[in-house]
Amino acid sequence: MSHSITDRISARFAETRAGRRATAFSAGLRRRRVQPHWTDIFGITTVASLAVLFLTGILLMFVYVPSSDQVVYDGPWLPLVGQHVSKAYASTMRISLEVRGGLLLRQAHHWAALLLPASVIMQLLTAFFTGAFRRPRRASWVLLYLLFLAVLAGGWSGYALPDDLLAGTGLRIAQGVALSIPFVGTQLANLLFGGGFPGQIIEHLYPLHVALVPLALVVLVALLARAGLRRPAPRFARPGRSNDDVPVWPTAAVRASGLFSVVIGVIAAMGALVTIAPIWVFGPSSPGDASAGSQPDWYTGFLDGALRLIPPGWEFEWLGRTWSPALLVPLAATGVFLLAGLVYPFIAERLTGDRAPHHLRERPRNNAVRTGVGAAAITFYAALWGAGSADIMATHFMLSIEGVVHFFQTLVLLGPVAAFELTRRVCLGLQRKDREILVHGFETGRIVRMPGGRFVEVHQEVPVYERWRYAGADSAEASVAPAVTSAPDARSSLAQRPATADRDPQSQK
Ligand code: HEM
Repeated sequence: MSHSITDRISARFAETRAGRRATAFSAGLRRRRVQPHWTDIFGITTVASLAVLFLTGILLMFVYVPSSDQVVYDGPWLPLVGQHVSKAYASTMRISLEVRGGLLLRQAHHWAALLLPASVIMQLLTAFFTGAFRRPRRASWVLLYLLFLAVLAGGWSGYALPDDLLAGTGLRIAQGVALSIPFVGTQLANLLFGGGFPGQIIEHLYPLHVALVPLALVVLVALLARAGLRRPAPRFARPGRSNDDVPVWPTAAVRASGLFSVVIGVIAAMGALVTIAPIWVFGPSSPGDASAGSQPDWYTGFLDGALRLIPPGWEFEWLGRTWSPALLVPLAATGVFLLAGLVYPFIAERLTGDRAPHHLRERPRNNAVRTGVGAAAITFYAALWGAGSADIMATHFMLSIEGVVHFFQTLVLLGPVAAFELTRRVCLGLQRKDREILVHGFETGRIVRMPGGRFVEVHQEVPVYERWRYAGADSAEASVAPAVTSAPDARSSLAQRPATADRDPQSQK
């Protein structure tokens, strides 16, 4: 029997030490089964966006010049010819208008940079609202959260690199915030900018953007993958449906690679068809200019919004220094907000005393306080984010800018409290409804008249595997699981009986 050359190479490789390890690893992946769920799309989108960013970023490096030195623009964009621009701006213009496929690369890079924070935030929200951050997966939460912060750093530093007018406006704000930090502000700003504005900021941000942030991203993704291999993600409570589980290799891997390709295709199509960051329209960065309606990329909008909400005149002299709460308060508020997210699993554990390991995800409604906290955090973030566009809203809807700012000031202070209480009450209501369904079964809408003349509504028993869903994952983990697999208990026998009309006034028709 003749063996092809690839058969012989793989047979040889399988005999080596690395080959034996690879075979054992792939056998392990075949044995390991995972629960497919639609939320997997977020993790896959994260990996696909990162792949696009790395690939396009490395290609952009061949043409991009990370230098603030000034040159006279002599490219094909006539309105700029003869003007002084930085080498960074000139090279980004060259990428956009002269290098074949350059604009596609830039735009794909930028679109991926916009998609990445969204997918990481969705991963965080899924983990938060289903309690997937609890023991024994607190480390995965911290890693994912650090990934989110690294993505913010990547996006912010990349946004500055083209050195266009928008980038310059963002950097001017960053310099002001750095300068406002008591005692170390001046040194910090000097370190970052290498002197006055704009100084050497492009030269300083470039290594952060193309080396430090990518390194952090690679390390964090590798650690997350390792944590996921050691301890699979917690399951969504679907007892009796474990037949839906698929092996990691090849089924889950092939499904994931299909979705991965779709995401890459969508980003490439966006890069080819939808304009983003047209720096030839914005013009080069200029310290004295800031155009009206300047907007940062969406994921840093909440930081911008926090700055816009501070009432005017918040500044005073003390100890021979100028103190600027106008900048310090937003800096502290957003800093505390981000830090609270990072350490939430530890705070929640301390407050609830729940140190038990959890391997099932909870339905958000079954933990009313946590879901309320999540809704409050989203409201806080959304209010800051909306405030970042206060000027655009005012001009578009012909409102007074003061009115819009006052609205967001109120929303940022009261909104989270209202969102918490409203969400908590809705969750408690839903819990009560679930308990009702669990005990009495589903309403069928069928009214029957009993021999004694009474009217009752026939209720349908909750299928045995659905009961887990209504009882809540924690109770499922602790107590319902045995009941689900055994004969129907006292509560379920209730469900088989018609509920009386006196108990359910809705059914009296
Ligand atoms: C290996 C990783 C990466 C490399 C080598 C890289 C490289 C570059 C280079 C050379 C530029 C300047 C060229 C230009 O502006 O067109 C740039 C811009 C940019 N980068 Fe990256 N980058 C990487 C990762 C990232 C990540 C992870 C993000 C976001 C999370 C990101 C976001 C951006 C943004 C928003 C721009 C501005 C794009 C524009 O011109 O409109 N990059 N990057």
